[in-house]
Amino acid sequence: MARKPFIAGNWKMNLTHLEGIKLVQETAYKLTKAETDKVDVAVIPAFTALRSIQTLIDGDRLPLSLGAQDVAIEDSGAFTGAVSAEMLAALDVRWVLAGHSERREIFGDTDADVNAKVKQILKYGMNPILCVGETLDQREAGETDTVLSHQVTKGLAGISHDDMARVVIAYEPVWAIGTGKTATPEDANTGCATIRATIAQLFNEDVGDAIIIQYGGSVKPGNVAELMAQPDIDGALVGGASLSADDFAALVAAS
Ligand code: PGA
Repeated sequence: MARKPFIAGNWKMNLTHLEGIKLVQETAYKLTKAETDKVDVAVIPAFTALRSIQTLIDGDRLPLSLGAQDVAIEDSGAFTGAVSAEMLAALDVRWVLAGHSERREIFGDTDADVNAKVKQILKYGMNPILCVGETLDQREAGETDTVLSHQVTKGLAGISHDDMARVVIAYEPVWAIGTGKTATPEDANTGCATIRATIAQLFNEDVGDAIIIQYGGSVKPGNVAELMAQPDIDGALVGGASLSADDFAALVAAS
């Protein structure tokens, strides 16, 4: 089954809204129509830049979609500092990350939190990008497969077959994020294949075949083609390289 490549740039806690506007304008200028017909492209700014970037994408009909980096579990109320799914949906946010390893490690998001976020994102009509990945210790202990299938199973608990059509998975080995160490294309593919097999088992073969699985962790213009050439890798979740218009556009072109 043909799965359309999907490249998403996770800006993390970088760029003011003014810097974000400049980056999106420059990136969009460098992308050709042929590239954006072939590849879905999203940018995932900090909350403070969402409104500006949404206005830019809508106003100039840019061939990009908008994502957010996190969401609250609750609908609304006394949760100072949190941003709800309803607020994001009102800004035409289409993608929301759930379970990025930085959220899990630094902010203590548990598998149950991640599952609640996935449900909340779906409830408000958006698409979750569920991030999973093993740490270096887990990899060295031979636990990669167990960790991936555990995080996928917990993250997708209670999600319907129909809703799975809106879910994307990002396989991001924690040891490869922001470190310059990319998994070999074969190792990256093995992780993605484990995730696909887990999903086929949890739902069915069709759901497993259809789901878009991105690889993430030090993806650059120079290594994206060999990663994308792997059978189970459908795209990339890009951190550092998404902060440069030249690199991000080159990366989309090479996908
Ligand atoms: P990186 O980040 O590309 O800078 O390694 C990837 C991510 O954390 O999504």
